[in-house]
Amino acid sequence: MALYSEKVMDHFRNPRNVGVIEDADGVGEVGNAKCGDIMKIYLKIENGIVEDVKFETFGCASAVASSSMATELIKGKPVSEALKLTNQAVAEALDGLPAYKMHCSVLAEEAIKNALEDYYKKHPEAKRD
Ligand code: FES
Repeated sequence: MALYSEKVMDHFRNPRNVGVIEDADGVGEVGNAKCGDIMKIYLKIENGIVEDVKFETFGCASAVASSSMATELIKGKPVSEALKLTNQAVAEALDGLPAYKMHCSVLAEEAIKNALEDYYKKHPEAKRD
C-alpha cells in the first residue's frame, strides 16, 4: 500500500485556498515544536458563516494536505460547525494519514480553532451557539 492516499497527494500537489486574507476577521497560527512546522489560517466571516478561508503552511506534505482539506471542510459552513472540526475528520476526508503523521492534522484543527477564537476576540458582538 502506498504511504499516502491519492487524496493526500492531490491536496499536497494542488492545495486549495492557499494565501492570505488581508482584512481577515480571525487569524490563527500554530506550530509543532518537535517538527518545526507552522500553519496559519485566515478567516473571513459574515453573518456567522465562514465566507472565505485561506492558509499558509510551512510544513510537511501531510500538514499541507491537512490544511487544504480543513479549509475545504469549513468553507461556507456556520462558525458553530467549523468549531467542531476535528483532526480525525480531516484525516478521514483525506482517506487516512499514516499514524505517525496524525499530528500534522492536529495542527489544522488547532489553527482553525485559534482563528475562530481570534474572531470572537475581535468581534465580541458575535454570539456563540
Ligand atoms: Fe510536522 Fe507534519 S511533520 S506537521
